[in-house]
Amino acid sequence: MIDFELLDRDGLARRGRFTTPHGMVETPALLPVVHPDPARQPVAPEEMRTRLGITAVITSAYITWRTPPLRTVAEKEGIHGLIRFDGPVMTDSGAFQQHAYGSVEVTPEEILSFQNTIGSDIATVLDVFTEPEDSHEKTEAALAATSERSHASRAARPGLLAVPVQGGSHPDLRALSARTASELGDVLAVGGVVPLMEQYRFPELVRVLVATRPNLSPARVLHLFGTGHPMTFALAALFGVDLFDSSAYHKFARRGSLMFPDGTVPLDDLRENTCHCFLCAETPLTEVARLPPDERERRVAFHNLLISVEEIGRVRQAIRDGTLWELAERRTAAHPALRAGLREAMANPAVFLPTEPDSRRAFREVVAESTGRPVAVRFRHAVDAYRVGRAGARRVPRFPLRPEYLRYLPATDRSDQPIEWEVLTPFGPVPVELTDLYPVGPYLGLEEFLSRPHHLSPAAFGKAVAESTDGGVDLERDWTPAWDGRQVARLLEWRYGRAVAPRVAEGLRGERSRRTGRLRAMVRDGQPQFVVGTDGVPRPTFRGATWLHTLLDLGRERVVVHEDAIPFVREGRSLFSMFVVQADPALVPGASALLVDERDSFLAAGRLVLAPHEMARLRRGVAVRVTAHARSPAPEPEE
Ligand code: GUN
Ligand code: ZN
Repeated sequence: MIDFELLDRDGLARRGRFTTPHGMVETPALLPVVHPDPARQPVAPEEMRTRLGITAVITSAYITWRTPPLRTVAEKEGIHGLIRFDGPVMTDSGAFQQHAYGSVEVTPEEILSFQNTIGSDIATVLDVFTEPEDSHEKTEAALAATSERSHASRAARPGLLAVPVQGGSHPDLRALSARTASELGDVLAVGGVVPLMEQYRFPELVRVLVATRPNLSPARVLHLFGTGHPMTFALAALFGVDLFDSSAYHKFARRGSLMFPDGTVPLDDLRENTCHCFLCAETPLTEVARLPPDERERRVAFHNLLISVEEIGRVRQAIRDGTLWELAERRTAAHPALRAGLREAMANPAVFLPTEPDSRRAFREVVAESTGRPVAVRFRHAVDAYRVGRAGARRVPRFPLRPEYLRYLPATDRSDQPIEWEVLTPFGPVPVELTDLYPVGPYLGLEEFLSRPHHLSPAAFGKAVAESTDGGVDLERDWTPAWDGRQVARLLEWRYGRAVAPRVAEGLRGERSRRTGRLRAMVRDGQPQFVVGTDGVPRPTFRGATWLHTLLDLGRERVVVHEDAIPFVREGRSLFSMFVVQADPALVPGASALLVDERDSFLAAGRLVLAPHEMARLRRGVAVRVTAHARSPAPEPEE
């Protein structure tokens, strides 16, 4: 089975790696489609490697098999010898030719065995391509054939195998196909979608991914057949696509079309040299337009490939930065059809939520729809639950949660009843004590500049509060200490629930940064029990976690560690996925958790890298990073 290791993530999107007989593949990766006949290939694979840093390619085993001179070379020198590339080579099986020409002249057994013979690093089952328009009945019958061939191919394939996921436009069949592929495949290759991409039917493509993704094993590598245009990469990556393959760079070049991450430009329309990639810097595009057809096609194909590779690099960087939604929003702005696709994705938050992190460094609004990202939907639902049973709140203008403002805001009325205050944020009304939390705290968007709340002075804020109150409150008192207490109690309630929070908060005092005035720690007897990050989330120290462990019901907030890993976890080493026994399914990546042994003895506190449903299923890599253990140095909250 494939040894996929997840290194980093942003929601469903992952940065990872796996090995093949010809070396490692780092994902997300673009596998350019290489013609098996070197004479028909505009950019030599070796040149792709040396000049573009491309490490893996895909080629057609079927075209090789069907073309005797190519087949002879491949049988003698292997597929790597034929295409002159000694990195990882994936081969496709001919299903696409069945789609394009109506039939193939090879049996599933023959083409699988041929892929074994020619030393393919990743072989592909000969699936039955179904069209998006095909009826349920027809699609189901085709899927049964694909499934049978997949079982037979697995038995006949010692190496890595790509098992296609078909099912047309039928969500139930996509789900079924995804589950079958997950049992058999190393690479799960979503197929039958080329017509959707060619015809810009992106909402339908998204519906296919929505039906498919939750049913795919996270331990396998996800391939999307035919994702060729760089403007689609970020959208597809949102669904966790690890491998992209495409002949589009070449197809577009044949008709003189330049690809860019924000669209397509006909070479003949160009009067300005708008690209300065190293290739176009060598020969300006306006000159490329006048070259002989072959050279022109070669140059445009090279440019297209370079732009595509660059965009995959940006996707990887965005995963590291936690900004993939922003990139997808910027890219989908290139075409209304893509925007429609993104909107369809946002209409299905449940697909994303199990892997959406508890916070990110920033929430940058890119388009009007940004505040509808799944993570914002989750936040809104949680705010609704938090407000249940609380008296109606009063409104104040948005302000920084700092003592110089809080001193003016009465926390209780004259009969000592709490007064609830809310601010109107781009995510709806939010109780003030929660406004440092992601996504509200690190929100950067239009509203910040239109209403300029950061220009509200403490005195102006005080005046606004005084005007909105009715004499039922004490406006003379300094309310900051009361807010310290409320923030501690309420942040713990937000995180651990109303039932247990009062116990967790017992004896805790809020401590603010002298420099910024932000709540930075929750302290008992001079010992920090929770440290509050710049994302506003309280994270337990070793002491805090030890205390939490005594209060939270069995299983809650826990990740159970296999006994072999106990000594490592106690020392503060990361917990690897294969040593997870079970985990609280309510946890999400980035969340703090309690690491315990199988008898529920507390070991350490950590933060999740994987979602609970992924743990133990991924055999390699880190599941939880330990953040506090018995011998951790004393925590140092930000100053
Ligand atoms: N290339 C593009 N689409 C497909 C597909 O559905 N199956 C296979 N095997 N290859 C493809
Ligand atoms: Zn260029």
